[in-house]
Amino acid sequence: MWPMMHPGSRSPKLCDVMLHSARHVQAVLAGRSLSDSLVDTPAAMRPAVQAVSFHVMRRLGLVTELRRLMVKRPPADPLFDALLRVALALLETALAAGDAQSVQTDTASHEPVYAVYTVVDQAVRAAHAMPAYKNLLNACLRRYVRERKVLNTLAIKNPEARWNFPAWWGRALRRAYPQDWQTLLMQLNQPAPMTLRINRRQTSIETVSAALTQAAMAHRLCGPSTLTLMQPRPVVQIPGFDAGWWSVQDASAQLAAQWLAPRNGERVLDACAAPGGKTTHLLELADIHVWALDSDAQRLTRVWQNLERLRLVSDDRPQNVTLKCADAAQLQHWWDGQPFDAVLADVPCTASGVVRRHPDVRWLKREEDVVRTAAQQRRIVDALWQTVKPGGRMLYASCSIFPEEGEMQAQHFARNHTDARRMPASGQILPVQDASNADASNLPPGDGFFYALFVKQGKGAS
Ligand SMILES: C[S@@+](CC[C@H](N)C(=O)[O-])C[C@H]1O[C@@H](n2cnc3c(N)ncnc32)[C@H](O)[C@@H]1O
Repeated sequence: MWPMMHPGSRSPKLCDVMLHSARHVQAVLAGRSLSDSLVDTPAAMRPAVQAVSFHVMRRLGLVTELRRLMVKRPPADPLFDALLRVALALLETALAAGDAQSVQTDTASHEPVYAVYTVVDQAVRAAHAMPAYKNLLNACLRRYVRERKVLNTLAIKNPEARWNFPAWWGRALRRAYPQDWQTLLMQLNQPAPMTLRINRRQTSIETVSAALTQAAMAHRLCGPSTLTLMQPRPVVQIPGFDAGWWSVQDASAQLAAQWLAPRNGERVLDACAAPGGKTTHLLELADIHVWALDSDAQRLTRVWQNLERLRLVSDDRPQNVTLKCADAAQLQHWWDGQPFDAVLADVPCTASGVVRRHPDVRWLKREEDVVRTAAQQRRIVDALWQTVKPGGRMLYASCSIFPEEGEMQAQHFARNHTDARRMPASGQILPVQDASNADASNLPPGDGFFYALFVKQGKGAS
């Protein structure tokens, strides 16, 4: 959970954390991804700065509208403008926690919750280098403390402030899920669970569970090879990381390898493979030869690192992985003409299904990105289908909840490929609680995903 500030402790000072977060918020508002921007944070401050920055991303609609209500003209200094929004986001949470006198931690949601006076004091300190704005900052925060209810009531008349998503997300989800769109928006604004996939070639779920218990890390078993930590941790603190006992992978993402169901001896293509979450899962499940392809050379290096950490490549299993860097749609640049038994097309998408893990994505994507990304996905899967052998299968996967990247895409593919027979698979998975599953009821739901499975008919198919 959030490191609290104790006098004399080595936790970073909140004023420094706020200033760093403000720089990241400013970067996102200028179009840079938060994970790229966070790389610039000193290591010792990174967990705290990331937690506060994520928190602000989940409240950016509200605090932007509050800022508009209190400061008629946007401040000329974009760093100050971002700092004001960081401070308002923390202040809103502190006031909502209802206790202005003591520091609190919200262990259920892992949110940074500070006392009101701490937020105001530290924000003003953070503005030290901006003397022209210090009084304005102080005045806004004190006004918000006094008039929070009235200001919030006014602010949430704006749907972006109400839902903390750009208006087009609300419209798109309402169109797609007229019954559930509000629940969905609220769920998408929660922190995501940390789920581990156990590498059964190296260990068992019982061994990992016992090691976690010994390390006092509360967790729940969610399947034969899946467990969820009740509190996310840096991977290096969790027993078994270096030994390759497990990978961090959401429960919805773990379904890909299960639907593709690799069998010993098969030749399998993972066409958009980096950083290798699904490549490694496929290799854990069966003795296959995998081609791992990705157009991003830097991301592709992480596939190899993961294969090595999980002990999935070794001298004993020499030829089981081929890495290729190329555009999957340009077969002439990478394919040797030998068809594959199974192809995984985990296509690039808007990442709308994993917005809990990347809360900046909503502020970076534009409505037109959905159509543009869907066209790119069609280009990729049309090419990949040619590499599937008759009787072979292709799993289309996307971590999106927009139908344009899911069901509409699958139907378009089926219409345009008469040799494709659609087989049962999950279809659209929404990141909402499964009310019928009592066991899962106090665990956060898995990510939003879409799966469609096709088998190729024709000469040679059995
Ligand atoms: C959803 S991510 C894949 C995640 C990966 N399957 C995993 O489980 O770890 C999509 C990947 O597609 C890659 N990509 C984007 N366009 C591509 C293209 N035209 N050809 C091949 N890979 C592409 C991106 O670099 C990115 O790594």
